[in-house]
Amino acid sequence: MSSKNRIPMIAGNWKMNLVSGEAAELAAALRKNLSPDLKHEVLLAPSFTNLHCVHEVVKGSPILLASQDMAWEEKGAFTGAVSPAQIKDAGCTHSILGHSERRHIFMETDEVINKKMKTAIKDGITPILCIGEMLEDRESGKTNDVLATQLDGDFAGITAEEASRVIIAYEPVWAIGTGKTATPDVAEATHVFIRSHMEKMYGKNFADALRILYGGSVKATNVDELMAQPDIDGALVGGESLKADKFTRVIHFQKI
Ligand code: PGA
Repeated sequence: MSSKNRIPMIAGNWKMNLVSGEAAELAAALRKNLSPDLKHEVLLAPSFTNLHCVHEVVKGSPILLASQDMAWEEKGAFTGAVSPAQIKDAGCTHSILGHSERRHIFMETDEVINKKMKTAIKDGITPILCIGEMLEDRESGKTNDVLATQLDGDFAGITAEEASRVIIAYEPVWAIGTGKTATPDVAEATHVFIRSHMEKMYGKNFADALRILYGGSVKATNVDELMAQPDIDGALVGGESLKADKFTRVIHFQKI
């Protein structure tokens, strides 16, 4: 049914872009442009090195902060990794986990993502879990199987209560950074599948409350019709989130 009981979230994934001054400037512009009437959540995910300075800029505003990844260990000899305590110290309440670029470029498996999910939940960080199929999966009719396998692996051993902290982002890999957005109908149908699969895992109340964001070439020009779909509860935005004016429009979708 209607998504309107679920608080929408518009999230900007800045990926490996911007140095600190640029990140602070973009965050300041977005903060300044925010409508005081905004009722939904807005989140930014800068690079690790820019978290502190962006936090300084958004502190005291409704803008939330996420890391783009996180280690599953708490501390110690893990060269190059960044711990949950370190991202919380930098102002993060959320962490993007299992992004397709982590899965496909950095070879992260569902097993690794599952460990990160468990650590994030234990440490009070809200995971934004990304799942999505490759073009060949979609073309060979395997989309739902691929998504089910990811969900089963990523939520393995996680209770319904723990899982209720999680936000899912459905990001078809073929739509990321390609300018090819899933049509609202295709995205909606896939969100319905994801919700039904989560209902099988955790029950109807859980599935009704679960927020599922869509990601993959979301733009100022297509966000309105995507957000009009009943099962699309928000957007995870890459390229368009680097442009202050365009992302401001995405945040204020349907002219909220
Ligand atoms: P895009 O990226 O909006 O540039 O397609 C989305 C994402 O990867 O989160």
